Amino acid sequence: MYAGKNRGAIVTLTANPSLDRTVDLSGVLVRGAVQRAAGIHEEPGGKGVNVCRALAASGSPCAAVLPGDNADPVVQALRSAGIAHRNLPIGAPLRANLTLTEPDGTTTKINLPGPELSAAVQESLLALTLDACSGTEGTGPAGWLVLAGSLPPGVPPDYYAVVAHALRSRFGAASPLLAIDSSGPPLLGALLHDAMPNLLKPNGEELAEVTGIASGDELEADPVLAAGAALTLVERGVSAVLATLGARGALLVTADGAWLATRPPVIPRSTVGAGDSSLAGYLLAQTEGRTPPECLRQAVAHGAAAASLPGTTVPSLEQTDPGAVTVTPLELHPVPASSARRGPATPTPKEQD
Ligand SMILES: Nc1ncnc2c1ncn2[C@@H]1O[C@H](COP(=O)(O)OP(=O)(O)OP(=O)(O)O)[C@@H](O)[C@H]1O
Ligand SMILES: [Mg+2]
Repeated sequence: MYAGKNRGAIVTLTANPSLDRTVDLSGVLVRGAVQRAAGIHEEPGGKGVNVCRALAASGSPCAAVLPGDNADPVVQALRSAGIAHRNLPIGAPLRANLTLTEPDGTTTKINLPGPELSAAVQESLLALTLDACSGTEGTGPAGWLVLAGSLPPGVPPDYYAVVAHALRSRFGAASPLLAIDSSGPPLLGALLHDAMPNLLKPNGEELAEVTGIASGDELEADPVLAAGAALTLVERGVSAVLATLGARGALLVTADGAWLATRPPVIPRSTVGAGDSSLAGYLLAQTEGRTPPECLRQAVAHGAAAASLPGTTVPSLEQTDPGAVTVTPLELHPVPASSARRGPATPTPKEQD
């Protein structure tokens, strides 16, 4: 387990960024009907971009690396929001994702595939990411590199593993710590080679998918089983697994112990991007040198705050309430054979962007 204060900046890579449009419906979504919207929010998005927005909201140094032309609406939005970024022009428009939220917080997401990235662009994006991780003159290398979200068409599913390997080859012992938050083939592909991440942030479905243990719903409902599933990833070489369990909070499993964090229910307004805010909360605490259970506490405080804010709005540290979160040690038990699914992992229905 990594430890101690880590003051380097945080770099995120978002290979498939988007302009996130959230439409607040004034009633329940009805298929085939013409409906009124109460409002619309537009934010630059994609998981790594969201993590950067959440870190920036708390004044933590962060840079978002992404493909995108200077005039692309996503890049323009980052510029006008004052979010530090390094964009790689690709000569094609980025995608826009649509989220429909109903008054009771139910959300429907429609995600587009994004522009295809050629092998040459993929290589340039990797080079730009490593360059951003070197820091600027006077600052050391980045403290963390976060690889987050889906991969656009043309990018092989093991791209994150390739980036991880290149990062560690380039920086050796001074390598930034590596966090991964993805799903489906890019998540499975990230763990294909030997460069295991220092932190993996699955939700229940992703944990089920990447371990082949139980289902997402079963893991969300049973934190001891979820911790046992996460432990199998620690045994494969992942230093820490931060598994978020929606309204049920989150758990952290490392080689040194496991903890569960819960809090009283909040009234959710939009849970889109809650997981990205959780990851940002964890990283904020970790870069301040806090203990693993305290990092977990901040992750859940951030996630709950994000869930109670509209659209993909991200909370600042001041908008979170870590005191409302209860953290308890969890005993680790091996997963019973009856919970281990056989055969290949089934694709997750919840697309990760
Ligand atoms: N309905 C909810 N009520 C309270 N807190 C929630 C709710 N949904 C999410 N959270 C908070 O947000 C955190 C992350 O949520 P979740 O596990 O759904 O992440 P996720 O599926 O990765 O989200 P996404 O990928 O859409 O950002 C949870 O650990 C919890 O703290
Ligand atoms: Mg997520």
